[in-house]
Amino acid sequence: MKAHPYAHMLSTADCAIIVCGDTRREMASGYWPGDCGAATQNILLAATDMGLGSVWLGVYPTQERMQGVAEVLGLPKEVLPFNIIALGYPDEKKEDVDRFDPAKVHYEKW
Ligand SMILES: Cc1cc2nc3c(=O)[nH]c(=O)nc-3n(C[C@H](O)[C@H](O)[C@H](O)COP(=O)(O)O)c2cc1C
Repeated sequence: MKAHPYAHMLSTADCAIIVCGDTRREMASGYWPGDCGAATQNILLAATDMGLGSVWLGVYPTQERMQGVAEVLGLPKEVLPFNIIALGYPDEKKEDVDRFDPAKVHYEKW
């Protein structure tokens, strides 16, 4: 996809979901990226549970990517593309990586 420089996997992915924030439907202004992030995480978890591979491809807040995706999809100006989620049946099984670092957790105060 020309609108995204790091999305080469879309040419072989079985499908993709574009998560968007519709600012006309916001209950509180400015929270749409958080809402879209939560929706994305749910989609990624559901995909994994179904045995699918997935990749979060960041679009927001890079203006050129947002404009490019909006043009390709013909989005109304109030509908803002947050990311692209590439989905497909994985060719390889990657080992699980434990990235939990207790030193990054702060209690009571930073
Ligand atoms: C906010 C965000 C944006 C990302 N954007 C891209 C991207 O544009 N292209 C890409 O190949 N991976 C991107 N990734 C990384 C992949 O979604 C994925 O996290 C990465 O391949 C590592 O996967 P793993 O955590 O399962 O090892 C992004 C991840 C996040 C959280």
